[in-house]
Amino acid sequence: MTDQRMDIDTILKEDRLFPPPASFSASAHVKSMAEYEAHYNKAKDDPEGFWGEIGRELYWDAPWQRVLEWESPFAKWFVGGKTNLSYNCLDRHLNTWRRNKAALIWEGEPGETRIFTYQQLHYEVCRFANALKRLGVKTGDRVAIYMPMIPELPIAMLACARIGAPHSIVFGGFSSEALADRVNDTEAKIIITSDGGYRRGHIVPLKENVDGALEKTPTIEHCIVYRRCGNHIAMRAGRDLWWHELVEAESGSCPHVPLDSEHPLYILYTSGSTGRPKGVLHTTGGYLVGTYLTSKWVFDLKDEDTFWCTADIGWVTGHSYIVYGILANGATSLMYEGAPNTPDPGRFWKIIEKYRVNILYTAPTAIRTFIKWGDEWPNKYDLSSLRLLGTVGEPINPEAWIWYHKTIGKERCPIVDTWWQTETGCIMITPLPGATPLKPGSATRPFPGVVADVVRQDGTSVGHQSGGLLVITRPWPAMLRTIYKDPERYKTEYWMHIPGVYFTGDGARCDKDGYFWIMGRVDDVINIAGHRLGTMEVESALVSHEKVAEAAVVGKPDEIKGQALEAFVTLEGGVAPTEALKEALKEHVVKEIGAIARPDRIRFTENLPKTRSGKIMRRLLKDIAAGSQTVQDTSTLEDFSVLARLREEEE
Ligand code: WT7
Repeated sequence: MTDQRMDIDTILKEDRLFPPPASFSASAHVKSMAEYEAHYNKAKDDPEGFWGEIGRELYWDAPWQRVLEWESPFAKWFVGGKTNLSYNCLDRHLNTWRRNKAALIWEGEPGETRIFTYQQLHYEVCRFANALKRLGVKTGDRVAIYMPMIPELPIAMLACARIGAPHSIVFGGFSSEALADRVNDTEAKIIITSDGGYRRGHIVPLKENVDGALEKTPTIEHCIVYRRCGNHIAMRAGRDLWWHELVEAESGSCPHVPLDSEHPLYILYTSGSTGRPKGVLHTTGGYLVGTYLTSKWVFDLKDEDTFWCTADIGWVTGHSYIVYGILANGATSLMYEGAPNTPDPGRFWKIIEKYRVNILYTAPTAIRTFIKWGDEWPNKYDLSSLRLLGTVGEPINPEAWIWYHKTIGKERCPIVDTWWQTETGCIMITPLPGATPLKPGSATRPFPGVVADVVRQDGTSVGHQSGGLLVITRPWPAMLRTIYKDPERYKTEYWMHIPGVYFTGDGARCDKDGYFWIMGRVDDVINIAGHRLGTMEVESALVSHEKVAEAAVVGKPDEIKGQALEAFVTLEGGVAPTEALKEALKEHVVKEIGAIARPDRIRFTENLPKTRSGKIMRRLLKDIAAGSQTVQDTSTLEDFSVLARLREEEE
């Protein structure tokens, strides 16, 4: 945040309204805005009463004495209570008819299916937890996990949670270097991996990457390896152990450890605007309650549903909405190992048809990719089982929203645009699908129990229509408790920008109906001739042009205007990248938003540089636009050649 003027000019105009279908509302957990308002007000007036009531729907080994203890910025939830995530996700269902219900349905990229009932999953989790104990893992010891999207990943997580060993999952797309840094920060004793994992028909050499990391991770005593692909790997005697050999002799019963409500559940690294990745720490009771309730109400989760979240478990979305929140509800979670275009771009739609998926939760970047691949792919498959769609990760441009609504949801399915962060642990601003009338591009209203505001730098509310900084003004159960080993950084990164409230790092606007419009990270906001623009709004305008598939807009230093707009654009298949089209696109933006947003330069590119989780790396594009060498950390970049090509073109 370099700029002191914190009222961000907002230019996105979107006034379509999509009320929930009456049939959907009739059977929803939350059926109307009146019900939503009642929950919201109750939670606002009496947060401890509200969350306490929800907490009682779950299993506790010992009751809490107080729902919340708040010594800003440090929160304790369900103080004195004892519980266990693994117990709540598994054992709690075993005395019910759900015992033989599918907890996990998994499809590998090559096409195989594995299904685990709650009983079976419990058995595998217990065996693996016993194996961890045998290796000397104690309550409180950290365990690193670097795995592909296979059932053994949730099994490992739930085993760790069962014995109170905080896990730290590192996304399988990270390099040895990044893995070693994270392992060293957590000082993990054990790392769990597999020989490989399938991605676009190739084997990702996970064990090989771990071997690289293990050269510089002195705390690791053992590396447990699951055999997934059968590719040749090196096994160091004494240190490296095969999963299947390890669990062979273990019993399928392993009592859970009753854990203090504030016992650490996991550490997950996320990048900040500066410095090394931050180890976001989540704990037990509050995280359980937060992910449980948001899963139930946001996804209107029912026992009959097959729920598919397409995120990788290496990101918080997978932690909360493939594993913990979904299983805590006793629901069926579908998990897919591989790429969306293997063997062809119809793969997702084929999976939906095959398993009759009811709820699909994916990312805007994926949706824009599907648009680019063409409607013929989803149109080949029967998507009539779908009843609800969701998005997360970045603002969804209205154009992509409408496509998702029509082409995938056939105009029947509500879309929940869910705003949250690694740090928030669970969904924070979101529609409730049976209640909230939708506005494409808006994450709509705060979830009950969440109090959000849009403020200036001095903390004063900007009111409606004008943009500002998105803050959360009250503690919530699933919030991060600290940055691992760095409480000072926790305070300065989140609680000191704007005194007394949690600063999200995002810009937003709240309209007259109380709907939030997220404008992206504040460092993606650019100032042109004294007017601030959310780059996302310009991108939205570009993407609304029929020939554009994806766009990223960055600010570039400009002598006269302060900053100029540079747009990197990928075109729909078969469209020729002509100079005339560049002019047409500039005019299109002017038409959509106004002359202030006219891009100074448009550059066509075949791909945009993205992180492995699909976020466009705008900061790299900023460097390219400015013609400077990259000083940014590029360790999360999916494809380096994109950068090289853009630079070559510059020279
Ligand atoms: C940042 C958090 C939460 C899981 C995935 C990302 C952006 C997230 C939305 C949304 C607009 C969104 C924000 C946020 N973001 N969801 N629905 N609309 N922006 O987790 O890596 O911690 O990133 O993602 O900028 O701050 P993350």
